[in-house]
Amino acid sequence: MTMRESRSILRDLTSEIADTERPLWSLGAEITALFDFLKERTAFRFNPGSDIAAGETRTDSGLAISPIQAAMCAWEVARTAAFIRGLKQAVQDASDSLSGRPLHVLYAGCGPYALLAVPLMSLFPPDRIQFVLLDIHQTSIASARSVVESLEFTEHITDYVCGDACHFDTTTHPEPDIIVSETMNVCLANEPLVMIACRLLSQSAAAIMVPASVHVDACLVDESKEFTLVDPNDVGDYPVPNRDRVMLGKVFELNGENARRWGSSLGDRLPASRVVIPSPLEARYRAMLLTTVVVYGDIELRDYDCSLTIPRPITTSQPLSGGEALQFEYRLGTKPGLAWNVAADG
Ligand SMILES: C[S@@+](CC[C@H](N)C(=O)[O-])C[C@H]1O[C@@H](n2cnc3c(N)ncnc32)[C@H](O)[C@@H]1O
Repeated sequence: MTMRESRSILRDLTSEIADTERPLWSLGAEITALFDFLKERTAFRFNPGSDIAAGETRTDSGLAISPIQAAMCAWEVARTAAFIRGLKQAVQDASDSLSGRPLHVLYAGCGPYALLAVPLMSLFPPDRIQFVLLDIHQTSIASARSVVESLEFTEHITDYVCGDACHFDTTTHPEPDIIVSETMNVCLANEPLVMIACRLLSQSAAAIMVPASVHVDACLVDESKEFTLVDPNDVGDYPVPNRDRVMLGKVFELNGENARRWGSSLGDRLPASRVVIPSPLEARYRAMLLTTVVVYGDIELRDYDCSLTIPRPITTSQPLSGGEALQFEYRLGTKPGLAWNVAADG
């Protein structure tokens, strides 16, 4: 296959993934083809049956998952499609306000395929977009470099950096217009996106963040109503479940504005909200946290779209009966995440 043909395949796949007419969940074939395409362009190989955590790094700001796990993230169809689509739209919008210079994208946690960046290199020439590819794992940086070089996209790269994004000095490179990072887990637990955003955005006054926002909301859920069972012989659209939920309020939100404010004076915790459990608490309800990832504009990942947005129970030492106030906070450190205290009186 010629270079021209390879790039044309990548461009077609990227255009299909970015097509807003296509539901995210419908892109399984395209995401699989993209994964196979990138995998063939690096010597990095893995066996999903092996110890997939081997090579992970527990940093002082959270877990940097292993190169194998980072590679496997590609298979989360809606996640991967939403981030590629969202980054493409962010690039397009931000490019409109530039006068003749390229847009600078800092990709914090690029993984072994630079999965969110390489597809865009097939759409935008290097005089329109420049990337700094950053990852804490040398295996991932070396692999991402192979992918870029094999497609002759080297002119799209300002630099490859192997290091911790939480300790990256953005002034050593052209000021980023966009900072993209998918270094998160459900409820913003365990992985370092919050700290990465605080550290990088507080140094980059004009940069926008992709994802634009990640928020966690508390609610009461009747789990028996969360899904509708469908007969295997049914045809047509899936019925929309008639869910029974009581929203209690937003508990925590990471976005550019908050990250800049928090990043200017970081301690070991960040403020989060308080919610009150209605009294009496009806027995069918369980208190849960819902994560929503607003990648960019109206491109969102909501409940059950991917592993990042699976509802999680709010566990308490005593069963909730109603009337309690839950005071949340976000704890930074090697195992970051939301924590909460229960007070008897709402
Ligand atoms: C969830 S994977 C995402 C990989 C790829 N960007 C994607 O979207 O498929 C997270 C990546 O971020 C890297 N990472 C996590 N924490 C990091 C940190 N503090 N500094 C630099 N890289 C980090 C990991 O090594 C991993 O490659």
